[in-house]
Amino acid sequence: MKQIIFFAIACLDLLGLSAWGQREVSNFDRDWRFARFGLQADGARLPEPDSLEAYGTDDTGWRKLDVPHDWAIEGPFRIDLEGFTGKLPWKGIGWYRKHFTVSVKDKKKRFYLDFDGAMANAEVWLNGQKVGGRPFGYSSFRVDLTPYVRFGEDNVVAVRLNTEKFGARWYPGAGIYRHVRLVKTEPVHVAHWGVFVTTPEITDDYAMASVSVEIDNNRQQAVAGHYTVDIYELDAHDVIGKRVASTSKRPIALNAASTVVDSVSLRVESPKIWDLEHTNRYMACVSVYDKNKLADVYETPFGFRTIQFTHDNGFLLNGKRVPINGTCNHHDLGALGAAVNRVALERQLRILKSFGCNALRTSHNPPAPELLELADKMGLLVMDELFDCWTVGKQENDYSTLFEKWHEKDIEMLVCRDRNHPSVIMWSTGNEVYEQYKPETGVARHLTEVVHRFDTTRPATFGASYPSKSAMNGTELQVDVHGMNYAAGVYGGPDFYGEFLNKKGHEHLSGYSSESSSTMSSRGEYFPRKFHVDSYDLTEPGWGGLPDWEFAALDKYPGICGEFVWTGFDYLGEPTPFNSDASVLLNHSAAMTEEELQKQREELVRIERNRPTSRSSYFGIVDLAGFPKDRYYLYKSRWMPDTPMVHILPHWNFPDRVGEVTPVFVYSSGDVVELFLNGKSLGKKERKPYEYRFRWDSVVYEPGELKAIAYKQGRKWAETFVRTTGQAVALKAVADKKRIKADGEDLVFVTVSLVDREGRAVPTAEPVISCSLTGDGEIVATDNGDPTCLITFSEPTRPAFNGLFLAIVKAKRGGHKPIRLTIESKDLEKAVVDITM
Ligand code: GAL
Repeated sequence: MKQIIFFAIACLDLLGLSAWGQREVSNFDRDWRFARFGLQADGARLPEPDSLEAYGTDDTGWRKLDVPHDWAIEGPFRIDLEGFTGKLPWKGIGWYRKHFTVSVKDKKKRFYLDFDGAMANAEVWLNGQKVGGRPFGYSSFRVDLTPYVRFGEDNVVAVRLNTEKFGARWYPGAGIYRHVRLVKTEPVHVAHWGVFVTTPEITDDYAMASVSVEIDNNRQQAVAGHYTVDIYELDAHDVIGKRVASTSKRPIALNAASTVVDSVSLRVESPKIWDLEHTNRYMACVSVYDKNKLADVYETPFGFRTIQFTHDNGFLLNGKRVPINGTCNHHDLGALGAAVNRVALERQLRILKSFGCNALRTSHNPPAPELLELADKMGLLVMDELFDCWTVGKQENDYSTLFEKWHEKDIEMLVCRDRNHPSVIMWSTGNEVYEQYKPETGVARHLTEVVHRFDTTRPATFGASYPSKSAMNGTELQVDVHGMNYAAGVYGGPDFYGEFLNKKGHEHLSGYSSESSSTMSSRGEYFPRKFHVDSYDLTEPGWGGLPDWEFAALDKYPGICGEFVWTGFDYLGEPTPFNSDASVLLNHSAAMTEEELQKQREELVRIERNRPTSRSSYFGIVDLAGFPKDRYYLYKSRWMPDTPMVHILPHWNFPDRVGEVTPVFVYSSGDVVELFLNGKSLGKKERKPYEYRFRWDSVVYEPGELKAIAYKQGRKWAETFVRTTGQAVALKAVADKKRIKADGEDLVFVTVSLVDREGRAVPTAEPVISCSLTGDGEIVATDNGDPTCLITFSEPTRPAFNGLFLAIVKAKRGGHKPIRLTIESKDLEKAVVDITM
């Protein structure tokens, strides 16, 4: 124990430089100790001892770990648990404790802990004294440690989380699942999220940046000083470049223990504009002086861009119409659960961008701050969302129980945290809230007003369900821009939009589809097995609508700004249409042989439709593992019309369907497609107005080759084929990069396919695959995109699903021995992936 404390002291002394004037922000993620009480993973209950926050609590036997940590993703999946939260044991009471020291030289400083999010009902103590907390698990929050810091001694932060009293409609995760930082400042410093940069004037020649600065004086005496602001260029790697503007000294006079707000305008010549292709950013650097000593330097990235939501020309970015081709996404990272990881998040956003998605809706909660940073850098628009309900709940213990006391603080948190990001274009206060039917409650208006207390440069909105009512009953006048869920598909087709736009009193209103489609499919399934949905992209729940319906509505009413499809990625939980949880089937075992697995499958087929093993959604355009479904190409054909592309579905491996009708669909950015089966033309089809796919519904299956040639404006545009393959004989592995940083965060994603003797991917092969690794790395998780697979994600063994398998590899922090990942399956030639540091 002594040794551990000594080590902690040594580490923090390294961090704890006591130089005047430099705010220090240190990573506080490492070396926590964790214990779980209340509900356990197996459903048993472990009584929670009293006073675990006490300074002297013996935590030596607790599990050591780093955060971000999601205790629930560790599983196991339990068939008796609810499908809508992913059949994972997320409910429980988690305690985290972390020891650290602070140098006696820092006695006059302030110490804060910043939590990006802790799920849920966080309570935080320092040395046994309560310092704060936050019930809403998605909110970022700060606690002030200063009054209770023990200088030169062991300090203990204790965090208690309770997810048993948290309601969710999807998988929320559990634990300190986002980053934590220790912030050390002088007593006079920029307040938390205390800089707000707006850009009131942007021309080709110059732009004005208005910088509002909030400064705290924690001294018990008045302070006279000044601050300055400098603006620098900022590159894609966050490296500060040329200084482009600066202020002279701005005097400040602060009373004892008070806060002052001041603002200043700066002129930037020939500004580089932020847009989706050129993600130019700047850094506003605020320096605060206490008398004449530099007390704080605070940096805020921002961008110059304008946004407008119009009534009849949609959304304008920098004056140009940009259709919102967006997707809604929950916050989980698939097999990694809710624990945020920048590399995994970046991969998700890269995949979304690869089919033309240009906007994200953070349904239905505040995202990790990394999402906004990545969106700024990668060129994505963000609808930054707060809540899934207001005063009327949807689940026991959901936000309705917190609304009254917390909604203003949570709105302030989100808006002040995120308002400098050029990617953020709207603030969404909610989703499908019951108050939408009762405009007289005025809740929507109130929330719009609260948002505008902190930012008037972006509209407030929310996603309304049943827009045929709520877009017409006056609720739409209580927001700045009206979001409508499933407006095209459910409420009489495209004409509804016309009604909305043409209604008297709506002349100033702008609308968009805040949620669309909800089409369901399992990747690679065409004549689906039990608990799967076919991938012809024709299945939607009663409240949804096919992608094509939304496209038609948007084409008919270009005044509408665009859509956010439900969803970009499959997510944990809400496995519609298999939401029932009555099954008692045992969990799959990772050690299963092919034969045993086959037996399990047969058993699955025998059980009733109301006994599903499904634990993740079918809504994604991309599956949980990040593999594109067919719909990926349907959206790509629309969202990247200038990129030559043609895609055929299904695959052509149906030995049992010889002579049977097997529909063939083609998605293409071309306007005419000709389909060939074994060299024989099945005819040319031309895309008619309001048609978005090319269909050959009565193709009679014969093995061989299907070929599609697409034309655009009379010219050949793209060509593709699918061929019947032989049996799988080998594994083929492709890593998304060959080098990994040994920083404990970087990840390599390895996609494994099964190939036949000629190297062609076999789309139906599902052998059990095992991974093993040598060198300084670990296999963090595996996945296959199968929403019914109940093997814990950390297992290195699982079957492929429709020909694909994913392994996620991490390097040990500080490691240097190259990693070799070996991927094997019985009777198949293995694959090897080498990764260096
Ligand atoms: C919507 C809801 C989403 C999700 C979706 C599934 O009505 O807003 O959160 O549940 O349905 O189709």
